[in-house]
Amino acid sequence: MQAGAEQRGQWSSKIGFIFAAAGSAIGLGNIWRFPYVAGENGGAAFVLVYLACVALICLPYMFAELALGRNTEKNPVGAIRAITPRSLWIAIGILGVLTGVFILSFYAVVAGWTFGYIFKLFLTEPTPFTEFIASPWTVIGLTALFILFTVLVVYGGVSNGIERWSKLLMPLLFILMILLIIRSVTLTGASAGLEFLLKPDFSKITGKTFLAALGQAFFSLSLGMGLMITYGSYLSKKDNVITSALWIASLDTLVAMLAGLMIFPALFALGKAPDAGPALVFIVLPEMFREIPLGNLIGAAFFLLLSIAALTSTISLLEVPVAYLVDEKRWKRKYTVWVVGAFALLLAIPSALSQGAVGWLGNIGGRDFLSLMSFLWGDISLALGGLLLTIYIGWVWGVSNAAEELAKGSTFFKSRPFGLPFTNAQIWAFFIRYVCPVFIFVVLLNVFGVFG
Ligand code: PFF
Repeated sequence: MQAGAEQRGQWSSKIGFIFAAAGSAIGLGNIWRFPYVAGENGGAAFVLVYLACVALICLPYMFAELALGRNTEKNPVGAIRAITPRSLWIAIGILGVLTGVFILSFYAVVAGWTFGYIFKLFLTEPTPFTEFIASPWTVIGLTALFILFTVLVVYGGVSNGIERWSKLLMPLLFILMILLIIRSVTLTGASAGLEFLLKPDFSKITGKTFLAALGQAFFSLSLGMGLMITYGSYLSKKDNVITSALWIASLDTLVAMLAGLMIFPALFALGKAPDAGPALVFIVLPEMFREIPLGNLIGAAFFLLLSIAALTSTISLLEVPVAYLVDEKRWKRKYTVWVVGAFALLLAIPSALSQGAVGWLGNIGGRDFLSLMSFLWGDISLALGGLLLTIYIGWVWGVSNAAEELAKGSTFFKSRPFGLPFTNAQIWAFFIRYVCPVFIFVVLLNVFGVFG
């Protein structure tokens, strides 16, 4: 009997799972990070490489995480323990659980700014962004509020909390984005932005573009820390993992593209440069909203949308450590949620104060504390976790076990595409054993600056 089984939830429907997993994937990564990374890396050329990364690396890898989760019905640590008890491989699961809490800590700070901006846009004399993020009590208060929202949703459990909220929030997000796109593309001069996003200049594709795109795809799809193991563990054997993953990756990519369509036409219409970096959303957009009719309303809607997207992601970040403590340590779910939430808030304080409030936190080895956390946990830890998990699933658990799991609920997986001599499962096995680890390894080398 599985530990804590009586407290273990299951998705009440397949569509609920897709909403929740897509909600995890879709977040600040798509709407805040994707546009500025695309802006810095040549626009459409980056987009093209990004799409290739999602399809060829991330999608096969996502199948693997989901397969391990559904097969074992466990959190990342429990899943690995179920396959290889008392082995060092369990460290990958622990790394994933820790990564969840640490990403949550700095992610909640940025999410807090986002939430604050909903109201800030209505002020007649708003403080500039740099001043806003340097005011300690405002920023800590907003971070705490955001973590509280997250705790309250996760408190409700799997189908009652996460699933119900995702089903409500995700469609709202789409509607808001479409409205903002209509506004953006109808501004005079918007076509230059469309061109920037959609007409690739192939000379801009370099090794750096490729690595930036792969890293972004990994973060955006919530891969590398066992989130998809955890969410996959709440799936029933009847569910089709393959089509679910296709939906999640497509929706995530669609929202990133919609974010691009929302931001670049307006950006170019207002004569701004696309390479403004991480401040793009917070500095450039409010300026843009101020210059268009009903700007503060549209702007507030935008930051509300971004907060919603961030919330469905913070929910998932909290769920990974919570699932671990409930399953493995037999903690009570309701109590666990509060403890992990409080711990994440404590960890978030130095990140929140690193943007001008406390001087020395603004420069730790050349980075501010928040950027350092983002680098250590968002870049290094996810890439390392992804590399180790793909090796673990491809070589230790084994591709035939994983393929067996994936074939449950999916006839497609064992069929031969276009009359070829091998099955889809065999093609996938090749990707998971060779293509994914090699590529992720290259990204990791890049994180350590091997390519300069
Ligand atoms: N995918 C989220 C985003 O794009 O904002 C961030 C994230 C959530 C990463 C959950 C990892 C994770 F497990």
